Amino acid sequence: MRATLCIVALALLTIAYGTRAADDQSQPWKPPSPDTIPQGPLGDSIRLGRLIFTQTPKYARPYVGNQQSCSHCHLAAGTAPFAAPVVGLPGLFPMFDKRANRVITLDERIQECFVRSENGRPLPYDAPEMTALIAYMQWLSQGQQAGHAFPGRGLVHLPELAPNVQHGEQVYTQQCSGCHGEDGAGMPPAVPPVWGPGAYNDGAGMNNVANMAAFAQHNMPADKPGSLSAQDAYDVAAFIHGKPHTAFNQAYAHY
Ligand code: HEC
Ligand code: HEC
Repeated sequence: MRATLCIVALALLTIAYGTRAADDQSQPWKPPSPDTIPQGPLGDSIRLGRLIFTQTPKYARPYVGNQQSCSHCHLAAGTAPFAAPVVGLPGLFPMFDKRANRVITLDERIQECFVRSENGRPLPYDAPEMTALIAYMQWLSQGQQAGHAFPGRGLVHLPELAPNVQHGEQVYTQQCSGCHGEDGAGMPPAVPPVWGPGAYNDGAGMNNVANMAAFAQHNMPADKPGSLSAQDAYDVAAFIHGKPHTAFNQAYAHY
């Protein structure tokens, strides 16, 4: 029953993303079609990068410690505004990173998501997987002006609110558990876990209540994005935050 509901919902979700992009005149940008990736070695690297991005546990196995793909959070293969799109990033980095408290490269930012969101190990700078991820982001960024952030970079800005965890539990049960499960384990690879061993660790950006609220308010529930109030988003984020998450490996604290 849950599986059927979810398949229907995922089909609707594909339609919802499509219509939203078409209706919104302020976002005329369209992601380049994967059919336009060139033949030859550079094209092969871009294609590999896209596969790593959308099926991370399969294509970057040695560096991943959970069941999360980059595209579970960076929606539409890293192209959806206000779902932390990766479009334009090669022209923005190196830049100052608050968490690291220093200027970091794009490679280092990718490593941050590997050790935190992927609960894994840092992908080496010279690994073909790193080259492929950068090649993919560079390909997505064609036509973007270096030094200018892509419109919709990051997440939406919500006012800071005090969460109500009890109400968050109700929101989760009514609007999230049908896909992400009563146990938070989701149905990977299609539906990501939101807590437990398959999910991001407690050092991840998504483990921050304000970040998750901003992500969820604009992007979830996946079959009705934008329907949560800011308060509901804070409440459900605080509820998920209170569930068990793997401890971040402090050996990687400099990332
Ligand atoms: C569990 C969710 C999650 C997963 C999985 C994840 N990320 Fe992220 N990532 C985030 C969040 C949240 C941010 C910060 C967004 C913000 O606040 O602007 C972020 C930021 C980034 C940034 C910087 C974006 C910017 O605008 O500066 C890059 C690059 C990035 N991630 C790459 C990756 C890659 C590559 C993968 C897969 C190997 C990945 N991420 C997996 C949640 C995730
Ligand atoms: C119709 C199914 C569905 C519903 C309902 C749904 N989600 Fe999701 N959710 C997804 C899918 C699928 C993804 C991954 C996005 C992708 O692959 O495009 C996702 C991703 C996420 C992520 C980022 C990935 C991660 O592992 O952290 C969070 C957080 C999240 N959902 C929270 C919620 C919350 C909170 C609700 C309820 C308000 C909700 N979702 C309702 C299907 C759903």
